[in-house]
Amino acid sequence: MRKKSSPVQTSSANSLWGGRFAGGPAEIMARINASIGFDQRLYAQDIAGSKAHCEMLIKQGIIGARDGAQILAGLDTILAEISAGKFNFSEALEDIHMNIEARLAELIGPAAGRLHTARSRNDQVAVDFRLWVRDATDALETALKDLQHELLQRAGQHAATIMPGFTHLQSAQPVTFGHHLMAYVEMFGRDRARLRDARVRMNESPLGAAALAGTSFPIDREMTAKALRFARPMRNSLDAVSDRDFALEFLGACAIAATHLSRLAEEIVLWSSAQFGFIALTDEFSTGSSIMPQKRNPDAAELVRAKTGRVAGSFTALLMVMKGLPLTYSKDMQEDKEQVFDAADTMNLSIAAMTGMIRTMIIKEDAMLAAAGKGYSTATDLADWLVRELNIPFRQAHHITGETVKRAEAKGVSLEQLSLTDLQAVEPRITEAARHILSVQASVASRTSFGGAAPERVRSAIAAAKKELG
Ligand code: ARG
Repeated sequence: MRKKSSPVQTSSANSLWGGRFAGGPAEIMARINASIGFDQRLYAQDIAGSKAHCEMLIKQGIIGARDGAQILAGLDTILAEISAGKFNFSEALEDIHMNIEARLAELIGPAAGRLHTARSRNDQVAVDFRLWVRDATDALETALKDLQHELLQRAGQHAATIMPGFTHLQSAQPVTFGHHLMAYVEMFGRDRARLRDARVRMNESPLGAAALAGTSFPIDREMTAKALRFARPMRNSLDAVSDRDFALEFLGACAIAATHLSRLAEEIVLWSSAQFGFIALTDEFSTGSSIMPQKRNPDAAELVRAKTGRVAGSFTALLMVMKGLPLTYSKDMQEDKEQVFDAADTMNLSIAAMTGMIRTMIIKEDAMLAAAGKGYSTATDLADWLVRELNIPFRQAHHITGETVKRAEAKGVSLEQLSLTDLQAVEPRITEAARHILSVQASVASRTSFGGAAPERVRSAIAAAKKELG
């Protein structure tokens, strides 16, 4: 979901750096150079950064209090204008920084020219973008938390709902639907932790690095860092204007989280098929077919799955932009923003769609239960019984159980349906007790090891996760 950008006006002169330039740029040059079409999304951060810088310049006596006050008031006016959609963005002014500065000059006259003292667009854009990515990180973390809440809710309802567990998409051992959903609660929990980790590293201020080397003015970088709620100023001016690893970390964390979303989306696609029939999506989250009246398509899940490619693509794209760039700033780095904006928008949309699907999906317990017994899914339980009760080494027990499965297969019955005589034909010491452990219910109930599928374990995992999530 891309926010509609405000229209951008084009003209040829740029008075902000025009001192050395006689003519305007070629039309195509202006077009390839301009970032205002997308970086206008940084306006609030740009104004916050400029105000922090201006207040510091005043306090340090670098600019006069009257000029400073005019600048601050002008910036507030501009913030209100842009927020109200009453600002004319100009392509000739390239980017958000110069659009705002030019408007400031219109509003307050020559004093506007003092704002850029001891600053460059290089540290300006670095600070704006960090602030934006920091907010996006927080928003994404919250969205993932909401999704976890929804998963926990459904897991609580289905802590004992038996479903087949798969490996290689082949029936493996019975588990519970609650346990399966809790696996995703864990994944999204790590995704959130990755975002929080990245936030700590990104939360340092590049402001004051100026163009690349710092400045000869007596600036106070601690003050601007604090005003913008950064933990501290970045320690190296070259690094401060050069690196975009905070954006890469954000995109990397997005790509991993999107991969988790994609796996869940794929399972929703499978589960909602006629062949699985484990769940049904409600009308809110499915579409029909224009030709096949019986169809109910899981489009939202498919799109969540597909958008993962887009997010991973953004991560790769920015990696490729950054690799091989010499220090410090190069215009290449202007390409960082669209990737991050698109990934953030895509993630927010995908998570919202996933949260909605999880909240509304209808669980078909009977179909899950029926499928759970297929494919001799309790064979491991028999092997374990042979080990436990007859003290048979596991490898041998595995072999005996294999023979038993072969016998059941030949007779066209489940393991549970094999008679004691059949079982004893394979291993004479097998008793009636072994048959009781062959049901899917008994199998699941026995998985009581920490992190296991037994309903009691699932319930305590849910309780612990709820407590942790708050
Ligand atoms: N629009 C530019 C960007 O996004 C701002 C920084 C421009 N700096 C420069 N030295 N041309 O990176």
